[in-house]
Amino acid sequence: MLFKNKKEFKVDSQLSHIAFIMDGNGRWAKKRGLPRKVGHKYGAEAFEQTVRNCHKIGIKTVTVYAFSTENWSRPQEEIDAIIDLMRKYVEEAYKYNDIRVIFIGDKSPLPEDLKNRMIDLENSTRNCINTLNIAFNYGGRAEIVNACNELIKEGKNSITEKDINNHLYTKASPDPDLIVRTANEFRLSNFLLWQCAYSELYVTKALWPDFDMKELLKAVESFYKRNRKFGGLSNQ
Ligand code: FPP
Repeated sequence: MLFKNKKEFKVDSQLSHIAFIMDGNGRWAKKRGLPRKVGHKYGAEAFEQTVRNCHKIGIKTVTVYAFSTENWSRPQEEIDAIIDLMRKYVEEAYKYNDIRVIFIGDKSPLPEDLKNRMIDLENSTRNCINTLNIAFNYGGRAEIVNACNELIKEGKNSITEKDINNHLYTKASPDPDLIVRTANEFRLSNFLLWQCAYSELYVTKALWPDFDMKELLKAVESFYKRNRKFGGLSNQ
């Protein structure tokens, strides 16, 4: 970690991928007597700012959990609000065209217009250097099942870890080095179940709409204090 001062801070190759479970939008809104969808609006702003902050400090790949396969059970008004925020974000990202956006998850039940624009965005940003994976209608178990079904279709009768890796939605990204969850919840909630095998976990009490550069640097600082052994012995 290159930490001359906070303004010039850059990560090194130990931290190339951070994934975020953006939790606490509803609680943030409730604390202020506002509807849940307002929490998501501010959550979407924190998401955009956090992606910029990550790239500012040299993190090449960011993954965010924006909508899970289980989130369809929420009230329709809330689902519509999240889908609208995604529509807005897709148009903005299309205009800036400065980050490779990949949607991980099953696009098939999404509204046709949004689905088409997501695919346009993925195609038009495919040569950008930094990557943003947006988990939308995503479930970790479903992702693994999907990978296995693709392998069956290819006629495989014996598979390796590499085969599964190559059929995950995240096949273009390394495994996350660090998974950050906000709102003080100590769960993975079906997020990146295969990929998180050796990820470091960091939980903060901050609610997602309040997650800023200061919070990001706290998470990164905590990561650099960890002793990653990947099942081996410490090299320190
Ligand atoms: C969890 O908070 C958050 C979500 C289910 C949605 C995450 C969505 C965003 C951050 C905004 C969407 C961004 C885009 C671009 C679509 P919660 O609602 O479960 O919070 P709670 O546990 O406090 O109720």
